[in-house]
Amino acid sequence: MKGIILAGGSATRLRPVTLAVSKQLLPVYDKPMVYYPLSVLMLADIRDILIITTPVDLPQFQRLLGDGSQLGLSLTYVAQTEPRGLADAFRLGRDHIGDERVALVLGDNIFHGASFSDVLRHAAADDAGAVLFGYPVRDPERYGVAEVDSSGRLVSLVEKPAAPKSDRAVTGLYFYSNDVVKIADALTPSPRGELEITDVNLEYLRRGEATLVDLGRGFAWFDTGTQDSLMAAGQYVQTLEQRQGVRIACVEEVALRMGFIDPEQARALGAALGASGYGHYVMAAADRARADQARQVSGPPWSSAIS
Ligand code: G1P
Repeated sequence: MKGIILAGGSATRLRPVTLAVSKQLLPVYDKPMVYYPLSVLMLADIRDILIITTPVDLPQFQRLLGDGSQLGLSLTYVAQTEPRGLADAFRLGRDHIGDERVALVLGDNIFHGASFSDVLRHAAADDAGAVLFGYPVRDPERYGVAEVDSSGRLVSLVEKPAAPKSDRAVTGLYFYSNDVVKIADALTPSPRGELEITDVNLEYLRRGEATLVDLGRGFAWFDTGTQDSLMAAGQYVQTLEQRQGVRIACVEEVALRMGFIDPEQARALGAALGASGYGHYVMAAADRARADQARQVSGPPWSSAIS
C-alpha cells in the first residue's frame, strides 16, 4: 500500500505566520506538524510515501525529511502549482500509486489515541473500497459530515453543510482501493472550484463500498487550520508528553518500533539532533531497544540465576 501526505495550500487563515513558512512545517509543540501525519502512515506500515506541497515549500520539506532512508522509508515529492482540492492528490500521485491501494492523510491533521495502531492496521488490511474515519465535533459545519443510521452504517456525506445532519466530521485520513485514481480523474470541480474529496467518497458510497470507522470519545483529532486549533493541538501534545514522559509522533521512535531502522540507526538520529530534549528522548528510546534486544538474545534476566 502506498501513502500520500497532502501538504499544499496557502493557509491564508494562519497569515502572517504562513507568509514565509509552510503551515505543515510549523511546530506543534516540539516537532514539525508534518511528523504527525507521517507517523500515522508509518504506524499503518506504509513506507513508500509521496509528499505533495507547493513549489516554494518543496525544498524545505526535502531539507527536513530527505529521501526518508534515514527512517527506513522511501519519500518522494511532487509540487502542486495551485491548490485544486484534495482529490487532486490522486491525479498528481498517479505514478506513485501505480496499481496499489493508497492511504491519503492531510498534512495538518493530528490523530492520537489508545489502540490507534490497531485501527490503522485494520484499515490498511481492509479490502473495502474506502475506509473513512468519523469523529464527533462541536462545529461539524466546518468539515465533511457523515450521516449514519442507527446501526452506524454510513448513509450520506456532505461537504461543509449549513445544517449538518450529525456531529460526525470526516477526518483527513482516507484508505482507498486503486479505483480512486479513476474516480479522481472523472471528477469536475465543485462550485467552490475544488476537486472535492467528499465527491470521491460519495462515489464509493454510491457503489456501496464506503466504510466509516468511528474514532469516538476518548480519541483526539485536531485540524490545525486556525490559530486556536493550532494552539489547542500544541497544548494537548505538551500536556500528554509532560505528564507521561513519552513523545507523540516521534518519527524516529516510530521507525524503530516498526522495525524500519535498528537501535544503532535510531541512536545516530537522536545524537544528530544535538542538545534538544527530543534528541535525548530518541537516544534513550534507542538504548532501551538495544537493551531489550540484548535481553532477548541472552534470555530473561533471571535465567542465569536459575540455571
Ligand atoms: C477538508 C475536507 C473535509 C474534511 C477536512 C478534515 O476540509 O474537505 O471533508 O472534513 O479536510 O480536516 P478543508 O480542510 O479543506 O476545509
